Amino acid sequence: MSLQRLDKLMAATGRWSRREAKELIRQGRVLVNGLPARSGEEKADPEAAAILVDGTDLGYSRFTYVMLNKPAGVLSATEDPRQGTVLDLLAPELRRRGLFPVGRLDKDTEGLLLLTDDGELAHRLLSPKFHVDKVYYARLDRPLGEADRTAFQEGLTLEDGLRCLSADLRLLGDGREALITLREGKFHQVKRMTASRGAHVTYLKRLTMGPLTLDPVLPPGAYRLLTGEEVAKIRENI
Ligand code: URA
Repeated sequence: MSLQRLDKLMAATGRWSRREAKELIRQGRVLVNGLPARSGEEKADPEAAAILVDGTDLGYSRFTYVMLNKPAGVLSATEDPRQGTVLDLLAPELRRRGLFPVGRLDKDTEGLLLLTDDGELAHRLLSPKFHVDKVYYARLDRPLGEADRTAFQEGLTLEDGLRCLSADLRLLGDGREALITLREGKFHQVKRMTASRGAHVTYLKRLTMGPLTLDPVLPPGAYRLLTGEEVAKIRENI
């Protein structure tokens, strides 16, 4: 990787603005290869230099990966002339980075949505070839039962003829709540699958996508960067 300005590298982690990065450098809290950095304009190669902020590795990554707990009422899109999108929920320094949502959740669906600028990883997560598991928590207007569980497992055929892959239906309580695991991601798939068994979704939240689990500390609308470990796990598993 080429040499880049230190304040820019620090801001690229999403943890500081460039102004905050400059202030940390001014306070002598940023070390490059063991020596205090002198200014934000100083250049370093993030893949070759050891950059420590308050003694902790900068954790620079070429790409940005954001885990968002998508709230209901916003679109899984990068822009829309009339309605709020998931990008509007991000801080300006993240919004400028060309991030896009990896797949879509319906406007009224909550939960795990990954945003990134890593096109290749996004492609692999979404490719039908890789059958990435996604777990949803659903509330229904009437209970589903054992026969529905078997039908999900055998692979439903929807009213429009769409054949679904085998899916897992784990009923909770009286069957009006369920954990549903899909291995594909067709339009409105959970809603259409339960509707084909006579039950309508009243609330839907995605909990996992492949090896990635929604962080329970994130309330709807909140987000954080993925840890290096989480990125490595996705790369290993798809
Ligand atoms: N299935 C749906 O019906 N909606 C979503 O948002 C995701 C999966």
